[in-house]
Amino acid sequence: MTENLSRRRFIRVLGGSAIVLGAGAFGLSRCDQLPPELLANWNGPPATETDPRRRALAFALLAPNPHNMQSWLADLRVDGEITLWTDRTRLLPMTDPFSRQIMVGCGCFLEGLMLALNGEGQGASLMLFPEGGAADAEVGYAPFARITLGASAPNADPLFGAILKRRSAKVDYDPARAPSVDAMAAIKSASERPGVRFGASTDLPQLNALKALAKEAFRVEVDTDRTYKESVDLMRIGADEIARHRDGLEMHGPFFWWMKRLGFMSPEAQMEKGGIARDQARSFIDSQVDTTPVFAWHISSANDRAAQLESGRAYMRANLQATASGVAMAPLSQALQEYPEMADHYRTIHELCGANPGETVQMFFRLGYADAPEPVVRRRLDDIIRI
Ligand SMILES: Cc1cc2nc3c(=O)[nH]c(=O)nc-3n(C[C@H](O)[C@H](O)[C@H](O)COP(=O)(O)O)c2cc1C
Repeated sequence: MTENLSRRRFIRVLGGSAIVLGAGAFGLSRCDQLPPELLANWNGPPATETDPRRRALAFALLAPNPHNMQSWLADLRVDGEITLWTDRTRLLPMTDPFSRQIMVGCGCFLEGLMLALNGEGQGASLMLFPEGGAADAEVGYAPFARITLGASAPNADPLFGAILKRRSAKVDYDPARAPSVDAMAAIKSASERPGVRFGASTDLPQLNALKALAKEAFRVEVDTDRTYKESVDLMRIGADEIARHRDGLEMHGPFFWWMKRLGFMSPEAQMEKGGIARDQARSFIDSQVDTTPVFAWHISSANDRAAQLESGRAYMRANLQATASGVAMAPLSQALQEYPEMADHYRTIHELCGANPGETVQMFFRLGYADAPEPVVRRRLDDIIRI
């Protein structure tokens, strides 16, 4: 299940409930807004933060990641080093049973960290899986990266400049406006990483087949109790819940404030088969998919932990370049989930994206044009640091 449950769809179902539509009339149209403190991470590190490692991590924690679980930890106990771990308490065992997507998210974080160190003039050398574990089935029992600070100050990569503006744009796009050839070329070239290739839909039959698949895969996730429940359990509804958790699938504003109070957003109401919430969730993604002018993907030749990290690095770079080019972008990962109910769709997406035998589609995402959404809350810097 994806974030930002659709306000419009709920309103359609409720037929314009007087109470909901009356929220504005009661002066509540601004209730349930996020206090600025919750979004302060998106201003970057404060000037008072002088440790280059902490400064870079403050940028890195803004990386995209599955369900905004932010499954990463940074160990700063050795001077001049940053050792990165996957946080095993923040996995998604139902929708991501092999933690493949979690590792891709860690790759996004790693790329953000390297760009930030570089962008701040800090020399750094990187070693992946410094204690082994690149081929391990389980994540988080060994660090996935160690960065050693160095003296040299390399030239900054311009992608660093997009870190604070990057979003996952989970909204409808302008269906009539595909990213220009130049923008597509820039995104492709920015996302070049070893063993990872970029692809994009090129004709209408392929685009339409991918749309049908994306919608069907979304329904499978919602119709499968254990996978849907994983999302329901991670929904943070209302500014107070968001502030308490600082992770998960956030929804807030007057509409959700009312929905919650009317009982539509309780976990039980959401899980009820045939109930309003679950029924509407099945087709929640449809208009986002229908308005998508281009789908794109990253395919890796291997699928070990190192390849998953590289794919995350590629995705982060693509997302930053899209931001710099004014292109909206958001992942749609349901067909890439690895559990039996999704197996046919997983096979089909590999075929439709042109993956060769042995290759893995690591990321599948929408590209187009839309207004930038508001940023998504992150945990505090100290929450991800082991000292
Ligand atoms: C590996 C991976 C898979 C993701 N899959 C989805 C998805 O299926 N649907 C979706 O809406 N967002 C998906 N996202 C985006 C995250 O939900 C998003 O990064 C997170 O909520 C934080 O929001 P932000 O990127 O706007 O900062 C994915 C991100 C990553 C890295």
